[in-house]
Amino acid sequence: PELAKFVDEMPRIPVVRGQRLDLAAATTRHRFHRDLPDAPAFGYHGQSYLGPTIDHHRDEQLHIRFANTLGAHPFAADLDTSLHGVQESYRSVPPASLHLHGGVTPPDSHGHPEQLVMPGQSVDHHYPLRQDAGTLWYHDHPMAVTRANVYAGLAGMLLLRDEFDTGEQGNPPGLPYGEFEMPLVLQEKIFRPDGQQSLRSTIVVPEGSWEGGGAGDTGLVNGKVWPELPVARGLYRFRTINASSFSTWNLFFGNRMRFWVIGNEHGLLDAPVPVQNFRLAAGERIDLLVDFSGLAPGETVELCNDEQPVFQARLIGQVAMPVFCRFRAEPRRGFTGPVPERLRGGYRQPAVIPAPLTPTVVRNITLSQPYDVTRLPPAIMTLNNLRYSDPDIEMPRQGTVEQWNIVNITPDPHPIHIHLVTFRVLDRTPLRTLEYQAAHPQPPVGTRWTPPAGGFLAGPPVPVPPWEQGWKDIVRADGGTVTRIIVRIPTAEELGFDPDAAFPRLDLSSGNSHGPGRHPGRRPVHNSHDNPTDLRGYVWHCHILDHEDHDMMLRLRFPA
Ligand code: C2O
Ligand code: CU
Repeated sequence: PELAKFVDEMPRIPVVRGQRLDLAAATTRHRFHRDLPDAPAFGYHGQSYLGPTIDHHRDEQLHIRFANTLGAHPFAADLDTSLHGVQESYRSVPPASLHLHGGVTPPDSHGHPEQLVMPGQSVDHHYPLRQDAGTLWYHDHPMAVTRANVYAGLAGMLLLRDEFDTGEQGNPPGLPYGEFEMPLVLQEKIFRPDGQQSLRSTIVVPEGSWEGGGAGDTGLVNGKVWPELPVARGLYRFRTINASSFSTWNLFFGNRMRFWVIGNEHGLLDAPVPVQNFRLAAGERIDLLVDFSGLAPGETVELCNDEQPVFQARLIGQVAMPVFCRFRAEPRRGFTGPVPERLRGGYRQPAVIPAPLTPTVVRNITLSQPYDVTRLPPAIMTLNNLRYSDPDIEMPRQGTVEQWNIVNITPDPHPIHIHLVTFRVLDRTPLRTLEYQAAHPQPPVGTRWTPPAGGFLAGPPVPVPPWEQGWKDIVRADGGTVTRIIVRIPTAEELGFDPDAAFPRLDLSSGNSHGPGRHPGRRPVHNSHDNPTDLRGYVWHCHILDHEDHDMMLRLRFPA
């Protein structure tokens, strides 16, 4: 039965502040909709689903003691024990790893997918946050079960402030604050007939097998299905995230009203960019201004999507998930300040975003799904035709500027996220994919395959649109397209820590973990750069959660 829309009020996610935070992940039950029973889920910090919004100033260091108090896994039957060391025991004793996405964080605090925190254990993460204000988020990141843990509910926002973008009354750009600034955590889901969350899409693979990712048919905002938010008639600032597992959306308002993009993941743009729609891929955040002052009291407007999932649309005719939520105008007036003309400024934030630097290293990156005709969906998703465990990894040097040409030969968009660094998007160029593949036959998985795309371009580069020209940590690489980005690797001196320092894996004997713990004896995944007890470096990956689990995630080191 179709769930009634707009019957639940959109939750305002609790906000926490302070330099020391205890964050525990727990197994919970959560009510997603008025007409659904409470369903098994995961949540942080006592919430039945998702985590609190951490509101934090960049001048203060942040310490989080993260505790795994998880019990039975809501998706116990869906864990795939053929992937990277996933144990049978994870069904009742699930591992966790807390990652601050967008955080400029030391290697031992970044939530490495192999730095597993088992139930009963905790770990201290230390975040210096020497970085620009922006819209960060945190989520679980354990090797090969990230898709199950994040979908179950382990995600939250972190709004990083500075002396310019203060989030308070009198902030220099004049942006809405207080009740008129709020996160919109957008997700889509599938519910089983009994009302529980389903990790499995409508494309059937055997239970317990990795599936490749399922687009949802039900929209959620801040943990409720198709909610409604009463709004004052005035300007709102929505810190918006695509926290879904799979889909890229094209978002717009039902009445096609104009609104403004004011920032990307890592801070404000130079000036608000008026738009009527924009695309947002999984893991991307965007900072929006929306003006409800033109609505009559009682009038409503919906937040809509019309982008359909390419793979599912071709295979089973799946259509776009059409709506997320509805806003209903109250009679009262809200934030009446104007849309600012300029956004950047302050004594640390440069007044304008500088032009991208000139690269000294150019790296070709290939996104592919090597087909196995005996299996549906494709057996594996790859970066550079490599697996996570392959020793051939990228090692950009500290202090250099690199250009990454991301060549996506699949039909779907893949959001590519690089830990630790921020970057700028240059342009996107359509690719003659079939000719490219015919000229450069793809070797078996495990051998690097990064042929240049030059000679197979199907048109001139399309410059990145104005609303996407800020600092980012994740980029939508469209299907059949070459997406170019410019990345600068900071030095250890700038960072205040060594990004290439080795650190111990967590286990019971590690001085880095607390509590009794019940480590079930996991097989570590390591490659020739590791010693089996130490970890080093970061990762980069596709943010389609199923893809990063198998195997669209590679190790990454930033040597001096
Ligand atoms: Cu949002 Cu590696 O993660
Ligand atoms: Cu992907």
